[in-house]
Amino acid sequence: MKILLLGSGGREHALAWKMLQSPNCTSLFVAPGNAGTQKIAQNINLNPLDFEQVKKFVIQENIQMLVVGPEDPLVEGIFDFFASDDQLKNVPVIGPSKQGAKLEGSKEFAKEFLIKNNIPTAAYGSFTKENLEEGFLFLEQLSPPYVLKADGLAAGKGVLILNDLIEAKTELQNMLVNEKFGQASSKVVIEEFLDGIELSVFVLTDGKNYKILPTAKDYKRIGENNTGLNTGGMGAISPVPFADENLMQKIEQEIVKPTVEGLQRDNILYKGFIFIGLIKVGNQPMVIEYNVRMGDPETEVVMPRIKSDLIALFEAVANEKLNEIDLEIDTRSATTVMMVSGGYPEDYQKGKIISGLENVADSIVFHAGTKMQENSVVTNGGRVLAITSYGENFQDALKKSYANIEKIKFEDVYFRRDIGFDL
Ligand code: AMP
Ligand code: GLY
Repeated sequence: MKILLLGSGGREHALAWKMLQSPNCTSLFVAPGNAGTQKIAQNINLNPLDFEQVKKFVIQENIQMLVVGPEDPLVEGIFDFFASDDQLKNVPVIGPSKQGAKLEGSKEFAKEFLIKNNIPTAAYGSFTKENLEEGFLFLEQLSPPYVLKADGLAAGKGVLILNDLIEAKTELQNMLVNEKFGQASSKVVIEEFLDGIELSVFVLTDGKNYKILPTAKDYKRIGENNTGLNTGGMGAISPVPFADENLMQKIEQEIVKPTVEGLQRDNILYKGFIFIGLIKVGNQPMVIEYNVRMGDPETEVVMPRIKSDLIALFEAVANEKLNEIDLEIDTRSATTVMMVSGGYPEDYQKGKIISGLENVADSIVFHAGTKMQENSVVTNGGRVLAITSYGENFQDALKKSYANIEKIKFEDVYFRRDIGFDL
């Protein structure tokens, strides 16, 4: 089977790595990819948001499956674009329809969906600049900290958590009136703050049946002890040690099942990953967000723990036969630690030569922001490499990742030394 994978991050390198383990993956193209995907597959210089360009390539190369890594093409409707095109409609797309992608593309849509399906989530209100005053009143009724979320996609930056009421009101105004996050914050969801520990659950669904993939926990802040600015994620661990059978049962019954049933009831086509962000408050898992794709760097620990053939799973998703397939999970732990460019998530430099990759032993190096320049691998983004290792427990696995990080060099490298510190 000839497959096209869209995206260029560590997530895509990990998906590509896993897909290539399948005997059914005869050729794999990644658009646009990075230096890591270039080593194992064929990078194609395509813009995933230029659907006509994607179409041309799919027809020209006889691509038989499209796997979508990031959310933007899904939110823009690439699933529907394929489904409604005579030449593309028989090429399965792994990812939700445009309507399904609204679970990530609109926080308000996600909250309405959660409430409608009785899925535990924080109390909320949704506001525009027309009812800014009501937003202020809503904030006054909450106790701090205050959670403000831009309704639309804001590159992972659209959530503000503020301790002070006056500051919260100012930021609400900044978002709604001064377009702090552009169009994305023309609507803002204000949420009750949930106090607890976070984890993520990943689901693969064909729209009717589902498989719960390994759980993961990521570390979003740039600084140790979860301090400083939010990033895309600085490291991850799978499984999450506190996600015991009891909690997982609750998550499946109260969250995963009603999510898939809710989509079906609303006739929302969904053939892809659902990433459910949760906070465990006491013993109660509550949903803080849906994403309609895999997480990054969570994919770099989830994929290594899936033993089953990923292409077979994707084919079952396309054919709505996920119930006929067994999902086999590796019982070992996997961890990943992100090596990032100094300055990230603010300004940083690109083009630094990366050396020492050949010395890594007993870890998997997933590339994120890298590219080939002449014959060298150079940095090409904030998050550069994800160093993944297996272990009998996460502490063991982390030791291997950290030992290998010492062997890899580039100027101004930074990484967190405390992944897993709170577990
Ligand atoms: P999101 O982009 O929705 O994942 O939010 C970013 C981060 O904000 C999450 O990872 C949580 O740490 C935090 N967060 C979001 N919603 C809440 C909430 N209702 N209560 C507490 N923390 C939250
Ligand atoms: N690591 C969080 C995300 O992918 O959204």
